Amino acid sequence: MATLDATPTLAQETNLLRFITCGSVDDGKSTLLGRLLYDAGMVPDDQLAALARDSRKLHAEAADALDFSLLTDGLDAERQQGITIDVAYRYFHTPRRSFIVADCPGHEQYTRNMATGASNAQLAVVLVDARKGLLPQTRRHSYICALMGIRQVVLAVNKMDLVDCREDIYAAIAHEYRELAAQLGITSVHCLPVVAPGGDNVGHRSTRMAWYQGPSLLELLESADTTATQAQDFRMPVQWVNRPDASFRGYAGTVCGGRVAVGTEIVVQPAMRRARVERIVTADGDLPEAVAGQAVTLTFDREVDVSRGDVIADAACPAPVADQFAAHVLWMGDESLLPNRAYWLKIGSRTVNARITSIKHKVDVNTQAELAARRLELNEVGYCNIDLDHAIAFESYQDNRTLGSFILIDRTTNATVACGMLDFALRRASNVHWQHTDLNQEARSVSKGQQARCLWFTGLSGAGKSTVANLVERRLHALGYHTYMLDGDNLRHGLNKDLGFTAEARVENVRRVAEVAHLMVDAGLIVLVCVISPFQSERRFARSLFGEGEFLEVFVDTTLEECERRDPKGLYRKARAGEIFNFTGIDSPYEAPEHAELHLLTAGLRAEQLAEQVVEQLLAGQGHAPR
Ligand code: ADX
Repeated sequence: MATLDATPTLAQETNLLRFITCGSVDDGKSTLLGRLLYDAGMVPDDQLAALARDSRKLHAEAADALDFSLLTDGLDAERQQGITIDVAYRYFHTPRRSFIVADCPGHEQYTRNMATGASNAQLAVVLVDARKGLLPQTRRHSYICALMGIRQVVLAVNKMDLVDCREDIYAAIAHEYRELAAQLGITSVHCLPVVAPGGDNVGHRSTRMAWYQGPSLLELLESADTTATQAQDFRMPVQWVNRPDASFRGYAGTVCGGRVAVGTEIVVQPAMRRARVERIVTADGDLPEAVAGQAVTLTFDREVDVSRGDVIADAACPAPVADQFAAHVLWMGDESLLPNRAYWLKIGSRTVNARITSIKHKVDVNTQAELAARRLELNEVGYCNIDLDHAIAFESYQDNRTLGSFILIDRTTNATVACGMLDFALRRASNVHWQHTDLNQEARSVSKGQQARCLWFTGLSGAGKSTVANLVERRLHALGYHTYMLDGDNLRHGLNKDLGFTAEARVENVRRVAEVAHLMVDAGLIVLVCVISPFQSERRFARSLFGEGEFLEVFVDTTLEECERRDPKGLYRKARAGEIFNFTGIDSPYEAPEHAELHLLTAGLRAEQLAEQVVEQLLAGQGHAPR
């Protein structure tokens, strides 16, 4: 089989079609793909001989027929052995064009794989079985393709021989599919009847179905539009600032939209610094201009501040800049998406902090029905509002697939947990500005004669967080320090009254407490926070709000058995009796800290002794007595 590792060169890129095949083994997908490779002349003689041998072994009754599915079925064999293969890419070419086809599994549990395969494809071949017509999976595959920006679909109605090559059956399926495609915003649809094993309308026109006068699949692929997805306005995310010596400073990246020429006036976004392009440098010498898809290094006529992740855009039509968006998110993580949890968001070559602030609805991938949702699970699609900690230059995904798509990364595991397609900026993003104040945290702390700190007590309910923190606060107060205590139970009577104990409610609870603690540290106070804060991810978020050394995590480590024995509020008893749910340590997890500044092993120690350890650690960083 013709598979090449090499990435196509630029010359090839301009006459390269990337497409995806959608369907399942039952629809005859492997056979169609195998037959396509065969008809394109990509199966060498020795492999053909092996194929004939294997086909005879498997199908003794049809001695001469080749089983083309054997050419591409490797994926399924590997999957059956439990080996996960995300997407298999195959490369082939004809005298007219080169192709990269993404072959992905079709079942719902592999939706994320299909999205990956579709994300840079220009066309999808959707396969249906003529005997069955459109199935829920056809809808799902087409929806994912449309969501990922594919606007050209070839519908291959396969197994036509099993319905006596009847035109009326084909026509009904094609009609139904065109209606579906229109609903999904797929603008270009070409339908054709095929018999994959015989190659009818695959590599050559069929004689069995003379009523079909259109092109074969291979002809369609050879003539499909490969320019449709190139956006018009010049955009280039900066991948790397190239500064080998003081005399040269260039900005390297791949043009992801439009064209740029020497002399073009550009802006560097989001800061909007202007300059003119002086040179367009490549490994093969300078160019007068560059277009989408080319990797180049630009130099400017003046010094401007440019960093990796910035976007260079045409000054006449810059990209929008915002920090809040509406976007479709396809969840790929094994753990569910929780609104308000902080993730890394990577867009172009920029990485920022992001939170999904709300899930407006999730989409049933099989029917496209919009359903209410509080979280997203693996392979689910949601329409969400997203909040970033920095404004970025972007495009809607419809206009530019590079600047309109992003991935979300789990900050703890570094795993990619979602891909997203930006829709539009939320209006309030550009209408709310940061108000400058003359006094800062330092001024406020100095007037109190102390270093502002956040002491973050985490641990199980009943571990002793509030008891210890209370003693610490009393002692600090007696020494003249300015303090405040934020206690989880108390805050749940007011600020967090609306929140319960599901995972998503706790994420929001801890986020709010962290933000309030941050304000109080900004006010110059020593803040003592006591919340179970069971998830590492939210404690990490809390830490990220503070400067170096300002945040001290105190793990109040009391065993579950001991907490349950103490049971000061009788809650463990109720949880065991099934009267309350989602109780930390019982039916809701507690992720113990790994790098707490202070690990209080409480067994055998009195609260006063534990408080003393905390005070000591804190005072070590204070330097001098408060005013
Ligand atoms: S957190 O998990 O969101 O950080 P928080 O510290 O605010 O929790 O609140 C925990 C307190 O709420 C516990 O000390 C306990 O008194 C009470 N509580 C009521 N139900 C639960 C529950 N299901 N799980 C844990 N604590 C609960």
